[in-house]
Amino acid sequence: MSEKTKILTVAGKGGVGKTSIAAAMVRILTEEYPDARILAIDADPAIGLTTALGVEPTDTLDGIRKKIVNSVEDGRPREAIEMLNEARFRIFDTMLEEEKFSFLAIGRPEAAGCYCKVNAYLKEVISLLAADFDYVVIDGEAGIEQINRRVMEKVTHLFLITDPSRKGCQVADTIKQVADELVMYDRCGVIVNRVREESIPYIKVESADILTYIPDDRAHAENDIMGISVFDLPEDSPVMQGTREALTRMQIID
Ligand SMILES: Nc1ncnc2c1ncn2[C@@H]1O[C@H](COP(=O)(O)OP(=O)(O)OP(=O)(O)O)[C@@H](O)[C@H]1O
Ligand SMILES: [Mg+2]
Repeated sequence: MSEKTKILTVAGKGGVGKTSIAAAMVRILTEEYPDARILAIDADPAIGLTTALGVEPTDTLDGIRKKIVNSVEDGRPREAIEMLNEARFRIFDTMLEEEKFSFLAIGRPEAAGCYCKVNAYLKEVISLLAADFDYVVIDGEAGIEQINRRVMEKVTHLFLITDPSRKGCQVADTIKQVADELVMYDRCGVIVNRVREESIPYIKVESADILTYIPDDRAHAENDIMGISVFDLPEDSPVMQGTREALTRMQIID
């Protein structure tokens, strides 16, 4: 299909709608490109995309990592390449073959030190798996850490998500500055979420173009409370419409 895998990610301040929008992206891609190979990655240890997409993964990247580390500690140390191959194998095993997309969750490392390791692992996994998919959508954790650690290095389409708050916009600008150094993206744009019409003139994101403004979405907020997935949102709901517009402007869909 596509000559190059498109790797999409959302980044921004906490609680601005990254997971909601990433989930909407996955849904839209499955609808627009039913024959494409699509991978959704929940890269937030706090776990969000899993619920938003209504999936229940059996194992996580952190789980796989632990098993591989243990098997090395138990027996003979192995060559890095052998490790990576095994990881790839296990990741495919873990991946939930949903009807329309595959899914991988980073998991929740218990010890603080493991967190960097699983992030480093995630970075390799993104490179490793990208070739097997046409579209990869990554729901990252809040803030700048995963950009800073180059976990998102291979991302091709970077969506900066913010709410109308100054703080949210500043975080988006900061992430853009760091991403300019550390992410090899082709396109970058801003989505302003949960915004009222009258606030629009005051919104200042200077680092990148604003792709769309998404108003408050009652149906989405209610679905979220009840744990209903984004696949049950009305097609014309603000989150779906806004995400569609953003994907169009980033030339992901027509
Ligand atoms: N346009 C919207 N209208 C109404 N509610 C929204 C909208 N977008 C997101 N929400 C709600 O805001 C809350 C935060 O959204 P979401 O979890 O998508 O943000 P996030 O950026 O992923 O948060 P975190 O940084 O904690 O991962 C959720 O309860 C979600 O349902
Ligand atoms: Mg989230």
